[in-house]
Amino acid sequence: MSEHVYIFDTTLRDGEQSPGVNLNIREKLQIAHQLARLNVDVIEAGFPFASAGDFRAVQSVAREVRGVTVAGLARARASDIDRAWEALREAEQPRIHTFIATSDIHMQHKLRMNRDAVLEAAVEAVKRAKGYTSDVEFSAEDAFRSDLEFLCRVLAAVIAAGATTVNIPDTVGYAMPDEFGEFIRQVQERTPGIEKVVVSVHCHNDLGLAVANSLAAVKSGARQVECTVNGIGERAGNAALEEVVMALYTRREKYGLTTGIHTNEIYHTSKLISTVTGMPVQFNKAIVGKNAFLHESGIHQDGVLKERTTYEIINPSLVGITCTNLVLGKHSGRHAFRQRLAELGFELSEDELNQAFVRFKELADTKKQITDEDLEAILEETIRQVPATFELDYLHVFSGTTVKPTAVIGLLIEGEFVQETACGNGPVDAAYKAIEKATGRKYALVSYVIDAVTGGTDALANVTLKVRDKDNRVYTGRGVSTDVLEASARAYVNVMNRIVYDQKTRKQD
Ligand code: KIV
Ligand code: ZN
Repeated sequence: MSEHVYIFDTTLRDGEQSPGVNLNIREKLQIAHQLARLNVDVIEAGFPFASAGDFRAVQSVAREVRGVTVAGLARARASDIDRAWEALREAEQPRIHTFIATSDIHMQHKLRMNRDAVLEAAVEAVKRAKGYTSDVEFSAEDAFRSDLEFLCRVLAAVIAAGATTVNIPDTVGYAMPDEFGEFIRQVQERTPGIEKVVVSVHCHNDLGLAVANSLAAVKSGARQVECTVNGIGERAGNAALEEVVMALYTRREKYGLTTGIHTNEIYHTSKLISTVTGMPVQFNKAIVGKNAFLHESGIHQDGVLKERTTYEIINPSLVGITCTNLVLGKHSGRHAFRQRLAELGFELSEDELNQAFVRFKELADTKKQITDEDLEAILEETIRQVPATFELDYLHVFSGTTVKPTAVIGLLIEGEFVQETACGNGPVDAAYKAIEKATGRKYALVSYVIDAVTGGTDALANVTLKVRDKDNRVYTGRGVSTDVLEASARAYVNVMNRIVYDQKTRKQD
């Protein structure tokens, strides 16, 4: 039987550290449930000591998500570890993940601790965590830039103290694959007791090598890979889960290893993460990019038609990309709608289904045929909804080459109707100014992206925007419509609802 490589997903912790990403508890839970369906081995749900919101998110995932190990991150300090345990205690399989930096550069400049003090803190942290749970992971932050002899001494000491997984990160994405593979081999050779624990790696992508380095480490004996969906994370991100998993699968004759990942959930998971975080997936991204399985050149198309494997090393259906000619329209009923969504991998609550069906009917009135991509866009808008303080009732915009753009907005604010008018530099600016007047709220626009969901002039417009509040928090909003101005207004109203919801939940903390 081939050996298992544990997939440790840190989308909710390192992934959420991506600039501009700010997820609420509901979204974190939605992601955690999907990660469980994807069948990852470990979900790192957050850093409980970091904030009350992080604590509540880890606690909710620990309470609700079953059949998977739930990890919480903690610095090598008693207060962090105690807090992590409080958040994790109701998990079916809790793991405390504690870390401290072991490189000279981090110890001198960041921690201002000498080697002996770091070693002692690491051992104390593992012992304290061990008092709570048998499953304890220790990470030597910036391990790859650490002195090898000292790193191995720390790892041997934490293993003796009870760590069951030792993680060796390339925190700044500095390693080359051959070096990293050799480094992992050396660490195993020089660390007494390491054969009793799982050796893990955690690679960042600053030089675009996170996946290559993770695979090199696996070749050298690492049996846990820490990664994120779509490779999101700090700076240039982390190793992409879908790439690691599909490389191990596609080249299984080379590695002789398996993961437990249900590969047919990969595409849907990628979509969910991109929607919820507001981080688009680049078109040419391996495995999950829009172009990953498209063949443009005639020679390639001809080859694929004759025999798919001429130019395709992965069957797209293996990662959950389904091709269908089925389209829905305004006469399609609830049953067909629900069934198609289920086939696309969306599991919705009754409430969400009702909301999505209403939007579907509205859009089907203006667009004859609703394709799978349209349905996904509708769903993406629906699952980003939070309780609505503001609802768009109507929008009228007067614009043209010789008139000053003017917008009239009708909003329901907690059920009360409000109408406002404003002029702007362009029609979107006018609509946004009218919304600001009506709500009494105004935010700095960080980015505004408009995307046509399908081809054709009746395509759905999908607007994703990011705004910054006065505390420098960045929020993402999304709106979908056949009318670009309506989609833009919906996105702004959506982001305002998200901000109100976030403020309310923060107050409860
Ligand atoms: O990049 C890193 O070193 C980390 C550790 C906390 C595991 O994220
Ligand atoms: Zn990291």
